[in-house]
Amino acid sequence: MQKDLNNLVQSALVDISVTDSTAQLYELRVSILGKSGSITNLLKGLREFSGEQRANLGKVVNDAKVMLENAFDTKQTQLKLKEINQSLQAEKLDLSIERPLKQVGASHPVTLMSNRIVQFFVKLGFTVYHSPEIDTEYYNFEALNVVADHPARDMQDTFFIDDTHLLRSHTSNGQVRAMQSVKPPFSILSPGKVYRADQPDATHSPQFHQIEGLVIDKNLSMCDLKFVLENFAKHIFGQTTSIRFRPSYFPFTEPSVEVDAQCKCNDGCKVCKGTGWIEILGAGMVNKKVLENCGISSKVYTGFAFGIGVERITDIVNGIDDMRILFENDIRFLSQFVNCV
Ligand code: DAH
Repeated sequence: MQKDLNNLVQSALVDISVTDSTAQLYELRVSILGKSGSITNLLKGLREFSGEQRANLGKVVNDAKVMLENAFDTKQTQLKLKEINQSLQAEKLDLSIERPLKQVGASHPVTLMSNRIVQFFVKLGFTVYHSPEIDTEYYNFEALNVVADHPARDMQDTFFIDDTHLLRSHTSNGQVRAMQSVKPPFSILSPGKVYRADQPDATHSPQFHQIEGLVIDKNLSMCDLKFVLENFAKHIFGQTTSIRFRPSYFPFTEPSVEVDAQCKCNDGCKVCKGTGWIEILGAGMVNKKVLENCGISSKVYTGFAFGIGVERITDIVNGIDDMRILFENDIRFLSQFVNCV
């Protein structure tokens, strides 16, 4: 029996080592260790022996059985690993394949500048207040003290939709709507598109962007206006920039000013036309008539307002001397702003 066992173990070990699939190994295992496998049969044959001999032989066969079980388990693990590796190899994705990259879009320089301006004022405590692009004559002109037939209407050639509706010619309509719906004190910013019946040229476009600012509180003065606008200019053009107020006229502010920022050049350049100053926006103290038109007592409250042309600021900051390029969608121009935030 001992001899049979030795032969069986030897050939089983050889068979295990040459098997190269888990399915084959399973069959082999059943044929040796299964219910009617060769080792099981040997164990059954022990019945013919008795006493000490039977016990000794039983121990030898059991040891052989345990040894073969270990050999099967080890081989099983090896084959499993091999099969996993093979299937990983077969299913591997080739990510190196060359495919043309899709062109990725980016924000337009005017959007970037608008966001930058809005972010500055939001940090100062302003809230964004959107107003409609199609509005009535009342909100765009009348409430702002620009009555019908007032010569100031000529300052803004307007697209009329019908007798009373128009494409807003400035974001100042946001002032009226805010004053009528928000309880003072408040600081709002109204950004958006505006429209004028202008022939496009280097400094005009029938559609452009403005950001309106309005602060209503008690005891405001031109000092508050100057503080806010000087900090705005420093944020956009650099910390050493100062501003100046030039007297001007807008029907909705009294007094009114044009605001100039100091040019970066020392001795006059094309951008500042040799003056050392660049006009950046219009502003003023809210006209008492406008406060009253909008239901705010001019005896209790004061206000200041300003209107920023976003294309103008974009042009100044980027050295652009013809605003039409901002609307031409020329990828060679726009791609220069891809990594700007
Ligand atoms: N609405 C004016 C324009 O488009 C700009 C402006 C000037 C807005 C003075 C204001 C302001 O709020 O106070 O020409």
